[in-house]
Amino acid sequence: MKINSAEIIISAAKPHQFPAGPFPEVALSGRSNVGKSSFINTMLARKGLARTSQRPGKTQTLNWYFINERFHFVDVPGYGYAKVSKSEREAWGRVMETYFQEREQLKGVVQLIDIRHKPTEDDVMMYDWLKHHEHPVLIVATKADKIPRGKWDKHVKQIKEHLELHTEDKIVVFSSETGQGKEKAWKEMSNLLFG
Ligand code: GTP
Ligand code: MG
Repeated sequence: MKINSAEIIISAAKPHQFPAGPFPEVALSGRSNVGKSSFINTMLARKGLARTSQRPGKTQTLNWYFINERFHFVDVPGYGYAKVSKSEREAWGRVMETYFQEREQLKGVVQLIDIRHKPTEDDVMMYDWLKHHEHPVLIVATKADKIPRGKWDKHVKQIKEHLELHTEDKIVVFSSETGQGKEKAWKEMSNLLFG
């Protein structure tokens, strides 16, 4: 995919701020610190467009990126982040529910999982919930540069088994450091967006 333009258009804290319009979108979901913002920067070849951080839970809004004046990426705040109050967490939960239940432009969800570890309970819950709402899911097994290539297959198998990945959902081994998996991820995301 050749990227001609990419810009952040809104950081939305409330559903009424979600952008209207006909453009299809994919959402990026995953635990805090898994590499969602890094994934966006690598896919768009725009260093620093999506803010990355060593400190988990930095992204606290739904962030819309408008690409090639044709489609959107939506960076969703990382789940499994406990350092906010219970009421804040509940309010966020409702915003997220509205988004994933009602957003008609949403064509599929990229769920990022750290290739090094077996999926957490939160990962499994998120996947089940997305499938309950019948969203197509692309699993991106990220930080692949952190384990030897010879171990990728074993770790992919572990992720598939723990999630009980549906046969129609694909999995891509990815690294923001090396660009591993970038082309395959674009191919699968294009299928979700325009297929
Ligand atoms: P939140 O916005 O807090 O939910 O985090 P995030 O999922 O957006 O993660 P982010 O992209 O900010 O990355 C978190 C940390 O992991 C940063 O220090 C990144 O540099 C690092 N990181 C992300 N992807 C990779 C990768 O593929 N390989 C390696 N080695 N490090 C990565
Ligand atoms: Mg982020």
